[in-house]
Amino acid sequence: GLPEFVKIVEVGPRDGLQNEKVIVPTDTKIEFINRLSQTGLSVIEVTSFVSSKWVPQMADHTEVMKGIHQYPGVRYPVLTPNLQGFQRAVAAGATEISVFGAASESFSKKNINCSIEESMRKFEEVVKSARHMNIPARGYVSCALGCPYEGSITPQKVTEVSKRLYSMGCYEISLGDTIGVGTPGSMKRMLESVMKEIPPGALAVHCHDTYGQALANILTALQMGINVVDSAVSGLGGCPYANGASGNVATEDLIYMLNGLGLNTGVNLHKVMEAGDFICKAVNKTTNSKVAQASFNA
Ligand code: HMG
Ligand code: MG
Repeated sequence: GLPEFVKIVEVGPRDGLQNEKVIVPTDTKIEFINRLSQTGLSVIEVTSFVSSKWVPQMADHTEVMKGIHQYPGVRYPVLTPNLQGFQRAVAAGATEISVFGAASESFSKKNINCSIEESMRKFEEVVKSARHMNIPARGYVSCALGCPYEGSITPQKVTEVSKRLYSMGCYEISLGDTIGVGTPGSMKRMLESVMKEIPPGALAVHCHDTYGQALANILTALQMGINVVDSAVSGLGGCPYANGASGNVATEDLIYMLNGLGLNTGVNLHKVMEAGDFICKAVNKTTNSKVAQASFNA
């Protein structure tokens, strides 16, 4: 059966804004995150402590982290690919981090400039340091349902990388359909494999909506016992190192579906739509959320 409560991990400020052509002013990012903090969301991914040469959109990570108001009951994780990023994140006041690996060798090389094995050794250092400081670490596995460079990826490979991250101490593994090619069929096969090694309570899904399959894939994951879902307000998002990757599932559309299923999220749809409207106006684009489009036209 379906879980009663679904935790939404809002990744718009990070996954969304890392992929915008224009660099969003730091004050706008801070205001966006502060607005999201007042919607009932319990987790908001703020920024990435990556190289500004690689992702200029996240170069203001320290200012954003220091500038936001940290609301009680809201957690503010950030991406940290290595110890250097981790130390900068901690110095900026981060109290939760995520490492981000991949189930594809080619994607790992393109995205973080090292092999899967090398990345795991870096992540081990990061997660170990985090645990010493009581900082919870999440682990991402990109290309869980396909790779922009290698095509299909086996459930076995996704399981192997997920297990590695879980064993090193990541409390939650977010399975990323980076380029949104998955279907309920491939999602089910992948999860069946991963769930042999990791309990569903420690898994999340992170669906980009490139092929319009994200909500169907998420529903499949919920039916299999997963109750943590990543999404981005207005359907922002994409990875600069994954050609053709489009936005994440829109948080508005996800909440609408979950509300319709009678599942509790604690998040106010109307307030999320307002935050979405704010960021769309700021970056001068129309929303990718079908629910927001329908509501504004009503
Ligand atoms: P590298 O060049 O291999 O790093 O980059 P290096 O260790 O060889 O060092 C080279 C230079 O980078 C040095 O500077 C370091 O100090 C610097 P120099 O001496 O030349 O002046 N450096 C750093 N600077 C700032 N922050 C750091 C850092 N580390 C080294 N943390 C690195 C390796 C990982 C840094 C680089 O490849 C990178 O920044 N990649 C960007 C990755 C990224 O942000 N991708 C998008 C997020 S992942 C995603 O979107 C997928 C996800 O949403 C899930 C899904 O959808 O599947 C999570
Ligand atoms: Mg992503």
